[in-house]
Amino acid sequence: MPNIVVVGSQWGDEGKGKVTDLLAPHVDAVVRYQGGNNAGHTVVVGREKFVLHSIPSGILHPGLRCVIGCGVVVDPAALIEEMEALVRRGIVLDGNLYVSRNAHLIMPYHRALDLASEAKLGDRRIGTTGKGVGPAYVDKAARVGIRMADLLDEPVFREKLAANLRQKNRLLSEIYDAQTFTVEEILGPYLRYAGWLAPYITDTELLLNRWINAGRSVLFEGAQGTMLDIDHGTYPYITSSSTTAGGAATGTGVPPTKIHGVLGVSKAYATRVGGGPFPTELQGKMAELLRARGNEYGATTGRPRRCGWFDTVVGRYAVRVNGLDTIALTKLDVLDKCETVKIGVGYRYRGELLTEFPQEERVWNEAEPVWEEMSGWQTSTAGLRDYADLPTKARQYLDRLAELVGMEFCLVSTGAVRDDTILLADSPLTRWFPSLRGSIPPR
Ligand code: IMP
Repeated sequence: MPNIVVVGSQWGDEGKGKVTDLLAPHVDAVVRYQGGNNAGHTVVVGREKFVLHSIPSGILHPGLRCVIGCGVVVDPAALIEEMEALVRRGIVLDGNLYVSRNAHLIMPYHRALDLASEAKLGDRRIGTTGKGVGPAYVDKAARVGIRMADLLDEPVFREKLAANLRQKNRLLSEIYDAQTFTVEEILGPYLRYAGWLAPYITDTELLLNRWINAGRSVLFEGAQGTMLDIDHGTYPYITSSSTTAGGAATGTGVPPTKIHGVLGVSKAYATRVGGGPFPTELQGKMAELLRARGNEYGATTGRPRRCGWFDTVVGRYAVRVNGLDTIALTKLDVLDKCETVKIGVGYRYRGELLTEFPQEERVWNEAEPVWEEMSGWQTSTAGLRDYADLPTKARQYLDRLAELVGMEFCLVSTGAVRDDTILLADSPLTRWFPSLRGSIPPR
C-alpha cells in the first residue's frame, strides 16, 4: 500500500485540505508532519465547512487514524479547542487521534514573542500568523523546547518551564518591553491540558512504522507550501518548518525509503499571505476579482490574501525540491470570468532572463515577470467532473501550464466540495490509489 506525501507547491493555501479529504477513504492513516495551528485546512463536506488547524484533515472520515507527528508544534489550548469543536459536530476522536510524545509545545511566551518580534520588525515584518510557531521552533533548535512527553511529567515540566521563563521574561521585558509570565499562571492551565491530552499522546513514530510494516497506507499531509520552507522558501519570509516533502520523513519518524511518492497541490493561479516576494502578484481590479471569486482570505487569520497569476518558475522549482510525481490543480473555476489569463514564465533582471527562482532579496526587488498571455474561456467550469466537458480554452491553459512546469496534472478541482473534481484517467495518483477510479459520482 503506498505512502504518499501531499505537499503545497506554492505559498500555502493551495487546497491541500480538499485533496487530503478526497484521498482519505483510500488510505489507512493521515499524518501531519510540520507546522502548527498556523495552518488552516478547509474541507467542505456536503453543506458543512470544517477548518482544521492542527488535526489532519482525515479526521472527518470515521475510523481513519490521524496522527500529529513529532515535527509539528502544538498549542495545547488550541488543539483542545479544535478537538472539542469536532466532537460537538459528531466527529469521534477516541481511538482515531494520536499525538507524538516528541512534538514540541507552543507556550504562551512563544505567542508573546511572535507578536513582539513582528511589531519590532516594522516594514520588514514577516506577517506571521501570530500563533507562536516560529519561536517554538527556535526553542526546539536551541534545545530548550518542551515536548508533549514533558507535559505528562509534572516535575520535569515545572523545571523546564521555570528555566525557560527566566530567559524569556528578560527577553520580553528588556528587549521587547512586553508582558512577562509567572510559572504558576502557565503551570495551572498546562497541567489541565496534560490531563485532557494524555490519552492521545503516544510514540507515534513507532506506531506509524508498525502500521506501514503491516501493509497499511499512510498519507502525509503537508501544511503551508514549498515557498515557505525554512530552507527552500523565500527566506526570511517563510515559516519555520520543513514544509517540503523531505520534512515528511523527519517530521514523522517514517524513513524516506518507506515513502513511495509525492503529490504537489497548486492553485490555477497564485496567492500569498504575509510579506515577502511574489513576482507574479497582481494589484487592482484583477487581484480583487481573484480574491472575491476564490474567497482568498486566510482560514486562520482572516487576512486578505495577495493574489497573482500562476508562476511556472515556482512550479518547476516545486517539482525539483519536492521530487513531485504529479500535481493536483485546484480552483480552476476561479478563472472562469477572466478575459485573458496570464502565465509567469520567467523574470527579467537587469536585462537578463531568469528561468530559475532567484534567492537574493536584491533580485526579488528588481525582477519583473515575463508573461505569456492566453485568452480566457469565460464559461463556467464550476462543478465539472469530466475532463471532456472543459472548454477548449481551459484545456489549452492546463496543457500550457503542464508543459511549462514539466509535469502532468492528475486532478483538476472545480469547486470546494469533495466531488467537484476532475480525475485524469491515467496518472500516478490513480496508479497509487486504483480505488479512486470511479469514486466521483457524475453530476
Ligand atoms: P508563521 O508560520 O505564523 O510564523 O508565519 C510565517 C509566514 O508563513 C507568514 O507569511 C504567514 O502568512 C505564512 N503562513 C503560515 N501558515 C500559513 C498557511 O497555512 N497558509 C499560508 N501562509 C501561511
